[in-house]
Amino acid sequence: MAPLSRRQLLAGLAAGGLSGTRSARAQTPPSLKEAAAAGHRFFGAAVRIDGIEHDERLRQAVLRNCSHLTPEVDLKWDAVEPVRGELRLRAADDLAAFARRHGLKLRGHTLLWHNGIPRWAVESLSASADWTLIRRFFASLIPRFGDSIEEWEVVNEPIETGFRMDGLRRSPFLDAFGPDYIRRALEEARQFAPNARLMLNEYGLDYDIPVERDRRYLLLRLIERLRHEGAPLNGLGIQAHLDLRKGPFDQRVFAAFLREAAGLGLQIVITELDVMEADRSLAPAERDRRAADLVRRYLDVALADKAVAGVVAWGLGDRHSWLQPRRHSPVDGSHDLNRGLPYDHDFMPKPMHRAIGDAFRTAPPRL
Ligand code: XIL
Repeated sequence: MAPLSRRQLLAGLAAGGLSGTRSARAQTPPSLKEAAAAGHRFFGAAVRIDGIEHDERLRQAVLRNCSHLTPEVDLKWDAVEPVRGELRLRAADDLAAFARRHGLKLRGHTLLWHNGIPRWAVESLSASADWTLIRRFFASLIPRFGDSIEEWEVVNEPIETGFRMDGLRRSPFLDAFGPDYIRRALEEARQFAPNARLMLNEYGLDYDIPVERDRRYLLLRLIERLRHEGAPLNGLGIQAHLDLRKGPFDQRVFAAFLREAAGLGLQIVITELDVMEADRSLAPAERDRRAADLVRRYLDVALADKAVAGVVAWGLGDRHSWLQPRRHSPVDGSHDLNRGLPYDHDFMPKPMHRAIGDAFRTAPPRL
């Protein structure tokens, strides 16, 4: 082997050792699922089956780091039944087969979401409040996966501030069935998934800013009501789309919220972790440091709570992130991409990868 240059030597040291070049080392950082499992937790990522099939680096990163997968789109109603009565389940089935082949757990994301309803269903719900529409959808999707999906996010993003005293989001479900639709959806899901953890999933719960204070308050009151009514609600997904534009993250405030949610008897999962950057004009190293610091401070609090069972990142590499400014055009450069996931555009691990691993390694074990 040729002698290492001073630069390679320093890079090798920074990457944690001298055996091998920086890139060989950097491509195989410690596995996040192993770091999580040591504390009886899990790590996963949102993926699309086409990403898994077409991007070998994504597949390798998934297999190395994830014990759980969340379908980024493939289980949503508008993906599953774009035309009434015509089920398109190939993508979901293929993802489930991939998960099965590799011993990964698939998460059920998501049944009722105001942004994921096929147009025909929106029209139908606005014409008549027919619950059999919901029942048929649940019946066509949930049993197909049986007990292999252990947790279902039954209602996604039910909260919206500024419109109603109870904080429920205006949606075709609320319009058709009234505020009771959430309890009914949980009951309905329970018919088809007797053993699953049934969850609500929500965003905008992380920061100490007025709108998010309201969102936390309203969500906790909703959970209280559902528990009081005996609804089969077992878990809360906290999306954790972190955002450096929202200012500092207050650990104390978030910790108190977690305690309160856990106190209502719910298991908690961080379901959609990523970071929106505030300033993409900074040097990449500084950008990565800021994102990693935020994730570290966030997960240090989250994983200090024994109710938090796992963390799912909303993608693994920046190349596939939904946060990209030009995500529908071919991605050919990396300079202006958001750097908010553990791997960069070329699947090199970033400091965020280490931050997540370190947070798992230093957290008190859950059991
Ligand atoms: C997003 C996906 O990432 C996009 O690819 C898709 O076009 C729209 O949905 N909250 C959620 C996720 O619960 O389902 C959303 O996923 C992101 C926001």
